[in-house]
Amino acid sequence: MSARGELVEEEKQGEAFQPIDEVNQFDKKFYIESYGCAMNFNDSEIIASILYDTGYGATKDFTEADLILLNTCSIRDKAEQTVRHRLTHFKGLKKRKKKERPLVGVLGCMAERLKAKLLEEEKLVDMVVGPDAYRSLPDLIAEANGGQKAVNVLLSREETYADISPVRLDSNGVSAFISIMRGCNNMCTFCVVPFTRGRERSRDYRSILAEAQDLYDRGYKEVTLLGQNVDSYSWTNNSVDAEGQIQYEEVNFAQLLEKVAQVGKDLRVRFSTSHPKDITDDVLFAIKKYDNICNYIHLPVQSGSTRVLQLMNRTYTREWYLSKVDRIRELIPDCGISTDIITGFCTETEEDHQETMSIMEYCQYDLAYMYFYSERPGTLAERRYEDDVPEDIKKRRLAEVVALHRKHALLSNEKTVGKTYKVLVEGPSKKNPEEFQGRTDQNKLVIFPKGKIEVGDYVMVNITRASSATLFGEIV
Ligand code: SAH
Ligand code: SF4
Ligand code: F3S
Repeated sequence: MSARGELVEEEKQGEAFQPIDEVNQFDKKFYIESYGCAMNFNDSEIIASILYDTGYGATKDFTEADLILLNTCSIRDKAEQTVRHRLTHFKGLKKRKKKERPLVGVLGCMAERLKAKLLEEEKLVDMVVGPDAYRSLPDLIAEANGGQKAVNVLLSREETYADISPVRLDSNGVSAFISIMRGCNNMCTFCVVPFTRGRERSRDYRSILAEAQDLYDRGYKEVTLLGQNVDSYSWTNNSVDAEGQIQYEEVNFAQLLEKVAQVGKDLRVRFSTSHPKDITDDVLFAIKKYDNICNYIHLPVQSGSTRVLQLMNRTYTREWYLSKVDRIRELIPDCGISTDIITGFCTETEEDHQETMSIMEYCQYDLAYMYFYSERPGTLAERRYEDDVPEDIKKRRLAEVVALHRKHALLSNEKTVGKTYKVLVEGPSKKNPEEFQGRTDQNKLVIFPKGKIEVGDYVMVNITRASSATLFGEIV
């Protein structure tokens, strides 16, 4: 499943970067695979930038790499198991003669969660590097090349990598991610992210704008502003200028959105993820005011039961969430809304599950990412509650949620048939390279015959047919 801008986990596993031009100018090569959410994919672009400066070029073929990196995710047990399984594929390379053996590094959230323990558990790993420690990669590589195991999992209160220009290695040249903040201060009891990503910190808006401008100047047409909780973006500058005057500047998320939207009228702006407790009317007004801020909000509900939401520490009730959805639809009637849902959280009863089903009926989500609960070591839920819903029930409830969502997505998509939408052309369709694919403002994927248009163009497409995942149409 592809969903640019979503914080997508397992669906996007194991994408290797495309090598860019002139890779051969580098003596050494790195190979990187990214797992987990969009932030991890964007981090890999920062890592690539650091490695380029260290003299490593990218390769898509791990057998020719001097350095193999897995940028990992810990969100569910399955995500970690996938990485452990993947590591076994590199065993053969470790049997090469000493000088030809590549270094293997585990980066990202698994590195942060397991720390040096990972070196004991996975013998072929040489480096363990947490999400705030990528600037130290050159030193860690030198250490590992010298025969030492190298670990840096320090979390920072400041690190935002603001001054590093991500290398857009696997890019379609049209859409790009921009991380605007790192970490998370919410303590949802099921979630490992606050432990793997540390405290929330926002990036200087000027570096965000510079990155957006640079992308725009290079022909990009869409940026997605990323953060675990973008609505709590807050940047303050309290400095003294040359004349001794105090300069105070404060930028919140709504203001940042507007500033990015002003970079170019034809630069689409998306963002992810919004926590329902933090999304403000100001953000909704900004979406309404600017045509190029997409009418699409990812608003994870997790559960429809207030009792379960409280156990999850989501800090909103079912009613509060519904009032947010009503407000969005009141201000932006055609806004696409998507969600994340967890089934089988601790103590979830059949009635709680039915409340999740009924909240879905009410919201009629355009897109949903649905999971069964996976207990994560060290989280509040693991320490406080028993993981007491049997796996077969978790999975049965998940299957019901998935089936209901498909029905809603199909209904929502069928409503588009006969209408015309402005679509940003992203590239050849994944299923049929003879056709193009692109997205509407509401983030719906559209497939259409190529015609005389180019990737990166905006085209008007009349929808002729729809499935639960895709729209099909003709250019008008
Ligand atoms: N910051 C985002 C979520 C990031 S994690 C937010 O708050 O919305 C993406 C999704 O993974 C979550 O929304 C949740 O639905 C799911 N998730 C997180 N921890 C999980 C767990 N322990 N088991 C199953 N799903 C989980
Ligand atoms: Fe996890 Fe909650 Fe933070 Fe999202 S808001 S990353 S679910 S703790
Ligand atoms: Fe993202 Fe997975 Fe880490 S969802 S923040 S890579 S635990």
